[in-house]
Amino acid sequence: MVHIPVLLDEVINFLQCEPDNIYVDANIGDGGHAEQMLKKSSPTGILIGIDRDEDSIKFASDRLSAYRERIFIFHDDFKNIKNVVKDKAGFSKVDGILFDLGVSTRQLMNAERGFSFSSNAPLDMRMDRSGGVTAKEIVNNFEEEKLMGIIYKYGEEKWAKKITRAIVRERGKMPIETTFQLSDIVVSAIPPAHRSQRIHPATKTFQAIRIAVNGEIEILKDAIRDAIDVLNIEGRICVISYHSLEDRIVKNLFREMEHGCICPHDIPKCICGRKGAIKILTKKPVTPSEEEVRRNLRSRSAKLRAAEKIVISD
Ligand SMILES: C[S@@+](CC[C@H](N)C(=O)[O-])C[C@H]1O[C@@H](n2cnc3c(N)ncnc32)[C@H](O)[C@@H]1O
Repeated sequence: MVHIPVLLDEVINFLQCEPDNIYVDANIGDGGHAEQMLKKSSPTGILIGIDRDEDSIKFASDRLSAYRERIFIFHDDFKNIKNVVKDKAGFSKVDGILFDLGVSTRQLMNAERGFSFSSNAPLDMRMDRSGGVTAKEIVNNFEEEKLMGIIYKYGEEKWAKKITRAIVRERGKMPIETTFQLSDIVVSAIPPAHRSQRIHPATKTFQAIRIAVNGEIEILKDAIRDAIDVLNIEGRICVISYHSLEDRIVKNLFREMEHGCICPHDIPKCICGRKGAIKILTKKPVTPSEEEVRRNLRSRSAKLRAAEKIVISD
């Protein structure tokens, strides 16, 4: 199932794609946003695409093969965005950058990847299968406290304690190896009267473990700071997040970078000398219309924030 790009018109409007300019899609996924960025910057705009999932790289490369003259696609982590832009693609600065965080529908729907409780598969959940810790390792080996912290913080799951207790009890009997095993344990740990009717009761736990497996939160702040660093003046950055923790990181970083000065409030005169580097274009995050959510349920939690790099004034 191909991923439907979220907030597509809004992203394209903010990025103001034009010929001769250079754009980065830091999460190329199935290439939906990228395709539109390429069309809008036709005939000479360049697109650098990044994804840490080899399947996404292959899919996007095939889909966008008509644009091969002006597209560079790299299997990499967006935390290396500076290196990708400068050393791999060979550009010093770019004019627009999109981050569309999280996983794609196709990753979620691919049974063998182990992202979803709706089909049975080995517990993997790695976006980049060339290395790193799997969901199975986290679920079976992490200490109880640590596992509970993950489920509570990344899943915002109020039943984290009960769920973790149940996981620890069951893994003491036999290893938890599949998505169905984990899902059954999670469901049975939540009292029946409190099981959500709106979403599957294991949704939040699966999300939490996926975020932990892929280290999704830890890398975000530095990656966005580096992205802003490689933007030209008047270049724009858009970030779509699907999790309140991510959105808070983006909101706070944008504010910090707009304000510049990091002196304590009680100091009468600035001594840090830092100036604002961006202008925030979205006072509040842009969210999908009801129509978009009806068409694409996955868009329901999306929040888009955008900013423009500015000349640093004295
Ligand atoms: C929501 S999808 C992007 C969908 C894309 N915008 C489209 O229109 O098809 C997120 C993609 O980001 C990738 N991804 C997530 N974290 C990443 C990271 N740190 N570095 C590179 N790619 C990442 C995932 O593998 C996934 O393909």
